[in-house]
Amino acid sequence: MRDTIMVMAAALAILLSSPCRARVTGPCVNCHTMHNSQDNFPVTATGGPMPALLVADCIGCHTGQNTGVNTTPYVHDTTPPLYRATGTEADSNTLAGGNFYWVSSAGALDRTGHNVYGLAAPDATLALPPGGDGTFTGQLRCAGSMGCHGDSGEADQVTALKGGHHGKDNSVWQDGSAIATSYRFLESVQGLGDPDYEYHPTDLRHNKYYGVDRTAETDQGTGSISALCARCHKYFHNGTGSVASAGTFGTGVWLRHPTDFDMANASSSDEYRAYNGGSGTGNTYSVISPVATSDTSTTVNTTIFTRADDAVVMCLSCHRAHGTPYASILRWDYKAWPGGGYNGCAVCHTSKN
Ligand code: HEC
Ligand code: HEC
Ligand code: HEC
Ligand code: HEC
Ligand code: HEC
Repeated sequence: MRDTIMVMAAALAILLSSPCRARVTGPCVNCHTMHNSQDNFPVTATGGPMPALLVADCIGCHTGQNTGVNTTPYVHDTTPPLYRATGTEADSNTLAGGNFYWVSSAGALDRTGHNVYGLAAPDATLALPPGGDGTFTGQLRCAGSMGCHGDSGEADQVTALKGGHHGKDNSVWQDGSAIATSYRFLESVQGLGDPDYEYHPTDLRHNKYYGVDRTAETDQGTGSISALCARCHKYFHNGTGSVASAGTFGTGVWLRHPTDFDMANASSSDEYRAYNGGSGTGNTYSVISPVATSDTSTTVNTTIFTRADDAVVMCLSCHRAHGTPYASILRWDYKAWPGGGYNGCAVCHTSKN
């Protein structure tokens, strides 16, 4: 029985690497089983039949090591991924969201990722999402009402994504109008997904994050990647008097680090004009400390300060969504700097060191 499962898992891993860059393609049998039975043995790893007649769950299909040719994006590895200092180095093998490895394996470091059910035990320190309004309780899942992907009103994870995998087309702007047309199946989020999910990203090849140039913190920033995080970490993003003193967003003093705020509006804008070593016009986009844009075209934002509202600070300017080797799921080891670590803040705060 155990052997059968191992063979099936190995076969699945090979079969799933069929070429496809957007919607799922290939023989149905790679991913679905009609009766969950082969030679009278169950086909799924859990033994029981699964929703949508699938052979594996989210974690089963999305676990593996990224090589640059695999077409299933792997977000969890069972062996240590190469992350290096920023997760963008030439030999790194993680994707844009980082990797759940550090929170799930080898020491299970709670601080290094979202403690997703099935990958990690509940976070021993954080029972609730920091910054939240108390409405989200329980352990996170990949999708649905308890997760980040798919329909947030749907309890079942697969139902929450229904139609997503077969309906994905990353060649068009993801307008957030349905799950299939939402950026990375993140409900209502807009953007343009890099076909390689940021495997070895460069200024020319990366995800295009949608951001909102807000003038008030009561603006929810609808459709932005930061608004997704705000579903659970609300007051870190919006709410009267939570980011800036009431009524002074962008003109007064900040209370929390701004997000969905365009750098061109900064009061001390000279510092930010030198973003990523530039001069304030057409600066090169940084994959180390990236920014979002309000531009909804399918042209990748390779430079910033090129058009209005293309230098929007977002949660992912400093964090990754799944996991990194570093505390608070930061893109770089902020806490070990100086001395060690990496000062990703300096990409924007060019006059501070
Ligand atoms: C690479 C994996 C993969 C392959 C190959 C695949 N599917 Fe799916 N399919 C999925 C996943 C994952 C879901 C469930 C999540 C979702 O809907 O996004 C799904 C959902 C479905 C659904 C329900 C949702 C919908 O889109 O209508 C149907 C029906 C379906 N598949 C039929 C098929 C058929 C028929 C084939 C062969 C032509 C096939 N699938 C091939 C992965 C695959
Ligand atoms: C049977 C295998 C299989 C299962 C089960 C599966 N996926 Fe996928 N998933 C894939 C493949 C293959 C791709 C790449 C093709 C694509 O984009 O649809 C993919 C792509 C994705 C993407 C990237 C979509 C994009 O923007 O290109 C996300 C996000 C995702 N899956 C999340 C999930 C979640 C959440 C679940 C569980 C509800 C899940 N997947 C279940 C195989 C699977
Ligand atoms: C569906 C709810 C939900 C969403 C959406 C969500 N989070 Fe979280 N987040 C949580 C919960 C619950 C915790 C605390 C438990 C844990 O770490 O898993 C948490 C913890 C964190 C932590 C602290 C990790 C630690 O252990 O120190 C960071 C950082 C974080 N989230 C960032 C983000 C970012 C960035 C986004 C958007 C890309 C986001 N979150 C979206 C629920 C969510
Ligand atoms: C400018 C960089 C930056 C931005 C932008 C940013 N964060 Fe953070 N975040 C940090 C740092 C650094 C920490 C570690 C704690 C500290 O030094 O304050 C942290 C910690 C956290 C924590 C853990 C708090 C705890 O109690 O342990 C959560 C959750 C979090 N951030 C969520 C978010 C969300 C959601 C957004 C977007 C609304 C966001 N962050 C935007 C840098 C940032
Ligand atoms: C993507 C660019 C970006 C990154 C990365 C970034 N910041 Fe900021 N930060 C800004 C902008 C823009 C402001 C608002 C400045 C203004 O309004 O004048 C700001 C404001 C601040 C402020 C408040 C100062 C003020 O002018 O009110 C502090 C403190 C700060 N950032 C620290 C950090 C630290 C520490 C990090 C790294 C963990 C970091 N920032 C990363 C862009 C960034």
